[in-house]
Amino acid sequence: MVASSTRYRPEGNEGKSVININAITIRRPDDWHVHFRDGAMLQVAVPFTARQFRRAIVMPNLIPPVTTVEMACAYRDRINMAVPDGIDFEPLMTAYLTDSIDADELARGAEEGVFSAVKLYPAGATTNSDSGVTNLKKVAGVLECMQAVGLPLLIHGEVTDPEIDIFDREARFIEQKLIGLRADFPELKIVFEHATTKDAVDYVLSQEGNVGCTITAHHLVINRTDIFKGGIRPHLYCLPIAKREVHRQALRAAASSGDKRVFLGTDTAPHPVHEKESDCGCAGIFSAPTAMEVYTQVFDEEGALDKLEAFASINGPEFYGLSINEETVTLVRDVAELPGRIETAEGETVIVFRPDAGLNWRTKT
Ligand code: NCD
Ligand code: ZN
Repeated sequence: MVASSTRYRPEGNEGKSVININAITIRRPDDWHVHFRDGAMLQVAVPFTARQFRRAIVMPNLIPPVTTVEMACAYRDRINMAVPDGIDFEPLMTAYLTDSIDADELARGAEEGVFSAVKLYPAGATTNSDSGVTNLKKVAGVLECMQAVGLPLLIHGEVTDPEIDIFDREARFIEQKLIGLRADFPELKIVFEHATTKDAVDYVLSQEGNVGCTITAHHLVINRTDIFKGGIRPHLYCLPIAKREVHRQALRAAASSGDKRVFLGTDTAPHPVHEKESDCGCAGIFSAPTAMEVYTQVFDEEGALDKLEAFASINGPEFYGLSINEETVTLVRDVAELPGRIETAEGETVIVFRPDAGLNWRTKT
């Protein structure tokens, strides 16, 4: 990492004051959690991720879900077709874990270099999770196989019991599911996706080996009160839902710690505006166009720009056992002119996430 500055962490000041850093150059980052969708939406979503990130872990929650090597290869081809000319971008495919998925198919996909990971959605936990796992016991054989072949399990960590308060579902998942899962499969590589609570980051940071977590840009910026600031804000609704301020602060501390178990995953999840602004609006925040700028801004505010490269570009590939990108990107302190909304060829609009306070970093092109 190279930071160009006139003063940086002045001697005798180990706190949060980072003064006058105007540009930062880091290895090109990767995004370890994206939703590209398909069709016209995919066409507009992919270029925003490919602009910033060299690789992305692509979520499989299409309808129908991606459950076979053939489906993943076809989906990967559609994504590659949408990458703008001249941009080096590699989609890393995942399989959608169902109660009845074939372990041999996953092992074959891993061996052929098609599947980079397998995604666990507890059935009913989030958007397009109806085909998800109803009981972890049903997939014990599959998890055994994944552990044996070194295929990581990516977890949407929320319990689905409707009696459990929505703000408690992540913490309950750790107590009720994750601890047992780790005991049963100690060698299974696990990523606790989009951590939103102090409970989650404390748990991950207490574990030795095999467990990491991703953190989104938006969960570093908004807390649950923001969802209701001045009225109900459907474009700030995602799952897991943003939590209290104490949790946001814990996420900021974990992300900016540089700890190798914590890495970047935007969970960019585009939905047409009419599906978000409805009497039962769906969950998902579209952040791909602004995410890298938002992360940089947050690390700047935390006085931790020196940790941005670890979080964005190093910890993820090391966890997945992949090489670190050679090329670099530079972010500069400047007003970012990024789109507030995008349109698909089918005339659908998607609102882009941005902090209320605006963006004061931009990617140098
Ligand atoms: C995601 C989606 O829209 O596919 N939604 C979300 O709120 N994050 C699914 C998910 O990752 O939970
Ligand atoms: Zn997601």
